[in-house]
Amino acid sequence: MTPDETSASASLEPADSAPAPPGAIVPPEIAAEAKRLRDWLNYHSHRYYVLDAPEVSDAEWDRRFRELSDLEAEYPDAITPDSPTQRIGAAPADFLPAYSHRQPMLSLGNAFNAGELVAFDGRVKRVLGLDGDATVEYVTELKMDGLAVSLTYEEGRFTLGATRGNGSTGEEVTNNLKTIRSLPLILRPEGPPQPSRMEVRGEVYMTRGEFARLNAERETEGLPLFANPRNAAAGGLRQLDPKLTARRRLDLVCYEIGYHEGPLVETQREVLDALAAWGFRVNPHARLCPSIAEVVAFVEEWETRRETLEYETDGVVVKVNSLALRSELGQVSRSPRWAIAFKYQPPRAVTRVEEIAVQVGRTGALTPVAVMEPVALGGVMVRRATLHNEDEIRRLDVRVGDTVQIQRAGEVIPEVLEVLTTLRPDGAVPFVMPTECPVCGGDVERPDGEVVTRCINVACPAQRRERIRHFASRGAMDIEGMGPALIAQLVDTGLVKDPSDLFTLTADHLIPLERMAEKSVENALSSIEAAKDRLVERLLFGLSIRHVGENVARLLTARYPSLQELAQAPEDTIAAVPGVGPVIAASVHAFFREPHNLRMLDALAAAGVRVRSEAETVLVTEGGAIAGKSFVFTGTLSTMTRLEAERFVIARGGRATSSVSKATDYLVAGEKAGSKRAKAEQLGALILTEAEFRALAGLDASGVGPPESAALLQIPLPVAASEESAS
Ligand code: IVH
Repeated sequence: MTPDETSASASLEPADSAPAPPGAIVPPEIAAEAKRLRDWLNYHSHRYYVLDAPEVSDAEWDRRFRELSDLEAEYPDAITPDSPTQRIGAAPADFLPAYSHRQPMLSLGNAFNAGELVAFDGRVKRVLGLDGDATVEYVTELKMDGLAVSLTYEEGRFTLGATRGNGSTGEEVTNNLKTIRSLPLILRPEGPPQPSRMEVRGEVYMTRGEFARLNAERETEGLPLFANPRNAAAGGLRQLDPKLTARRRLDLVCYEIGYHEGPLVETQREVLDALAAWGFRVNPHARLCPSIAEVVAFVEEWETRRETLEYETDGVVVKVNSLALRSELGQVSRSPRWAIAFKYQPPRAVTRVEEIAVQVGRTGALTPVAVMEPVALGGVMVRRATLHNEDEIRRLDVRVGDTVQIQRAGEVIPEVLEVLTTLRPDGAVPFVMPTECPVCGGDVERPDGEVVTRCINVACPAQRRERIRHFASRGAMDIEGMGPALIAQLVDTGLVKDPSDLFTLTADHLIPLERMAEKSVENALSSIEAAKDRLVERLLFGLSIRHVGENVARLLTARYPSLQELAQAPEDTIAAVPGVGPVIAASVHAFFREPHNLRMLDALAAAGVRVRSEAETVLVTEGGAIAGKSFVFTGTLSTMTRLEAERFVIARGGRATSSVSKATDYLVAGEKAGSKRAKAEQLGALILTEAEFRALAGLDASGVGPPESAALLQIPLPVAASEESAS
């Protein structure tokens, strides 16, 4: 730092140290100083986190960071969204809102050998009408093994980030993403012109080093370990509290531009260079290949080289370089015709099956598991491999005594790939699925058309144990100190039959149990107490209702603020919740028709467990004017951004899409609405002004939620009606 700079910041010391009142005008010299510090910090973060080429010491960076924080504490209005202080400290969310991608996030077809890459090249040429000798240029990129995200930038600022989800709808995780230091909050004014609005696609991942550190830390804390860096990264990004995301120290590389308004370059190579110039981290190992032969060479070169990288890659993504050719190629179903993912083989090993055990899961599913001679696989010793179900065992014909090849494909439990039948010992007999539950001896059932055999005795101790275990697990009610040993004792002694019984436990119940010292009893009881206040979506997920995973639980609680309301909801109304559908609805509906489940629900509520959501965002009511309706926003809105409007709609059970179709119910036309308006009129959508949208949404009524009645929906709004007749 130069002496000038020192005196400049010293002269800004405010005389009075009480913070300026909010709304007070920030003196221009303070605003300028804040900007100077922000620019300095952002520049050096980019050097450090993106380019891996720091120019200043960590201590100096920290000192300037503190200067900026102090200044912002003094003048809260000097804080801008791109201030590095805004990366952390956002308040925890109640749930992760759904986000519809403006352009779907596609998935890729796979190739597993050179022949399939050559065939891909042949298809590309055929569709483009090129002859066999022609060559197409490709870009090869290492396929990062993490999770895909979409980052929206508006006028150069990061405004929203979402996970891929199912490709059309993901979860909004903006504040979590902000904690990733290599994500630019504001783009650098370099390189080619920037689209005024765009969705940048990239991969969030965790390095091997960070993964090892995290698991070592979890081990000392007695927490379950993550199976691989991808799971750890995915869990880290989908936290409700950004502070927890920050602790995972995630990384990001970017590789595509999806939806964009305004200019774009012409090739993928230029896209990568542009992203780098704008401040994103791109993988340095991408290569421009003049033809498919060089692609094959790249793939072969990285087969072993990838082991030396600080992160896991599971393959190579091969993309046509020219963006014009890409649009000509288009897509089939959910995959582009212009790209393919070459996948390396996951680690495999050979070992011998000692026993085929049958496990009973929390929904009663019987899962056959191969218990094997321990063998090293991808760096860990494994002893068990899943055999999935009866059909799969029959297909593989696995028998006790067989030598098998197993594979770990990213999952915790490896699977059996094939039996080396030439090594089969004499007298090995085919496996038969038990005709009764191996735990309770009760009846099992395999409904027509299903592959899973289930124990149908809801009182089966194995099911009870697994249900309680799931209820207490980290993703559900997160009851620390409820380990498998304790749960087994609680169920076996009959103290706990269903999750609600946990809340009736007292020290007198726990002390007689094995390995329960006074301290562990205290811990168990206090974590049970703490679990009373979990989010309702976690409780719902914890109930082990078939087909209700974390995601579905979230969708359902966004629609039904309390479990009682969900329990009383008609099946078809549940099925109409976006993302739910008839199969899940039938399962949920049936669950709440069982008297013992209703009793459990009452018992949970009576014990003081939170069974109703307090989130403001779940105001969707029966007649809510937005739920189930499809909106398109076009032009500039004056009281909110388009993004905010879209999020508002989605949070209330509606859909927001970027293009007008027959399914569009409303087009909200802001300033300078263009061709979408004409199309909407043609297709019979109602056209709303911004003010009409606000009225429909109940935004101006009392400031809380949409109107309760559906009346507004029925009344054609005057302006829309007159315009319709005019057109
Ligand atoms: S391009 C249509 N580039 O692989 C374009 N994807 O199977 C699709 N991935 O969901 C994405 N590294 O999570 C692309 N350099 C890369 C990638 C990459 C990893 C992941 C991504 C995507 C999946 C596609």
